[in-house]
Amino acid sequence: MAMEKTLVIIKPDALNRSIVGEIISRFEKKGLKIAAMKMQKLHEEKLREHYAKHRDKAFFQDLVKYMSSIPSVLVVLEGKEAVEVVRKMTGHTVGRKAEPGTIRGDYSMSVQLNIVHASDSVEEAKKEVARFFSEGEIQHYSKLDFDWVYSNDEKK
Ligand code: RTP
Ligand code: MG
Repeated sequence: MAMEKTLVIIKPDALNRSIVGEIISRFEKKGLKIAAMKMQKLHEEKLREHYAKHRDKAFFQDLVKYMSSIPSVLVVLEGKEAVEVVRKMTGHTVGRKAEPGTIRGDYSMSVQLNIVHASDSVEEAKKEVARFFSEGEIQHYSKLDFDWVYSNDEKK
């Protein structure tokens, strides 16, 4: 099975809570490869596009305001079944309902201030990576631990 890419947004609350490094570290330790990363204050217009499916919900305006208030850290992660793996690591949307051991379960008590965004399907991930990163920003490199993260069979 081919490698997948997925988008993670480490949200403004994570910056204010000083846990950006810990979150990136969890993904690294899991065996996911960082394919791209940058810090950016997200524009309202781009967030309206990103959260388009929530356009008619009561929380939409507030969500866009919070997400554009201070910078976020955007990360593209790569790995086998990376979309599903990262969603599992992220946990339930509502921090106080999320399982301990997940990022939201360990660091969040809130529904809105829930630390991270993660793409929810392979199709969405492709769109989201392209929404926030240009082709040239995606890095292609071989990572030293690759041979120890996957068996020979899994590398095919
Ligand atoms: P995400 O898209 O951020 O990875 O999270 P998700 O799939 O678990 O949650 P989703 O339903 O897509 O909602 C997107 C983000 O909107 C905020 N939200 N607020 N006040 C509310 O009821 C409410 N519901 C959702 C959260 O920040 C959520 O991550
Ligand atoms: Mg979502």
